[in-house]
Amino acid sequence: MSVIKLMDGLYSVGVLNPALRVFDVVMKTEYGTSYNAYLLKGEKNVLIDTVHARHFEEYIENVKSLVDLKSLDYIILNHNEPDHSGSLERLIKIAPQIQILTSPAGKIYLPFITNDPMINMRAVRDGETLDIGGGKTLQFIHAPFLHWPDSMFTWFEQDQIAFTCDFLGTHFCEPTMSDALVQYKQAYYQTFKSYFDAIFGPFKSYVQKGLDKLKALDVKFVCPSHGPVLRRGVFLEEAMLAYDDWSTPKRHEHPVIPIFYCSAYGCTGRLAVKIAEGINHVLPAATVSMYDLVHVSPCSLCETINEADAFCIGSPTINKNALPPVWELIHMLEGTNCKGRRAALFGSYGWSGEALPLLSTHLKSLNVDVFEDGCRCRFVPSETELQEAYDFGVRFAKSL
Ligand code: FEO
Repeated sequence: MSVIKLMDGLYSVGVLNPALRVFDVVMKTEYGTSYNAYLLKGEKNVLIDTVHARHFEEYIENVKSLVDLKSLDYIILNHNEPDHSGSLERLIKIAPQIQILTSPAGKIYLPFITNDPMINMRAVRDGETLDIGGGKTLQFIHAPFLHWPDSMFTWFEQDQIAFTCDFLGTHFCEPTMSDALVQYKQAYYQTFKSYFDAIFGPFKSYVQKGLDKLKALDVKFVCPSHGPVLRRGVFLEEAMLAYDDWSTPKRHEHPVIPIFYCSAYGCTGRLAVKIAEGINHVLPAATVSMYDLVHVSPCSLCETINEADAFCIGSPTINKNALPPVWELIHMLEGTNCKGRRAALFGSYGWSGEALPLLSTHLKSLNVDVFEDGCRCRFVPSETELQEAYDFGVRFAKSL
């Protein structure tokens, strides 16, 4: 059991998972995570969020230790990914009286998560309030794309608490649930940033809107759905300033053009070097950084991708395909706002060279502006092919 009393009438009933090292298959979680959920106990008993389905037993034990399940009045689902709504199906089987409140978009998704079309659910309007007795009210504030279209905040005016789900959260398992008691602050800040990059990097304009909504409130506490609670005077102001900074569009004085590649025998790597030289010949002040995807995990590159003005991707063809780390990078690209950005492809091949056409087709399906047909060489690049790679870099840079 992992109940933590946060203040009178407010309990953390979520579940800590310090051992988790990979979240949703793609996110590294070096410091674990927590699936946060909260209970507001009073005249009306209100749950905010559930937890991942595999932690249902601990979650329900937490809730049962505080209230009779029959006395649960509402559950608010601020966002309906299964890490937050995954236990709902089992919860409503044992507490069928509970009324589910979610956003209009959430109302569309939830029946597919619970597989229960008769679910006792109501969509709340933006700005709608809910009287929970004792002179206390909750207000629902729609906050789309933070992190899915269904996201909303729940504002508890009397205690000045904003329940923000993913917003201002992080994958960091803090057993006290308090930002003030975090022992490994650097690790916490590091995960706070990488979480922002991965989850909110593609949605920066929505982050600004979300911040504006919070700034319009007199928030003392933010209760997110991963990581510790943020308090005014501790980390809350700094966290909001950081989100503001990270989500404010920045004009690069000079273009930023990362080159991501894999190279089995160094051949594709040699093309990468020549393409970089060609780019820098035309754009000497451009930042052209090389990322060997064998040594740099694609999931750590969200910020780099988000900030790039254009980019290059290189892969040899092995087993008639591009290499897995390159596809992992492409998967990360799907979570970024890469639409319309220009990309150049390159790679060595031995026999049939499928990697580039496969990558090109996929990138085009993401509306990436793929430059020419790419730059290829067969096996080891000759001096002529290296010159062609250089010239390809020159043309690519001129096209930007
Ligand atoms: Fe923690 Fe977008 O779910």
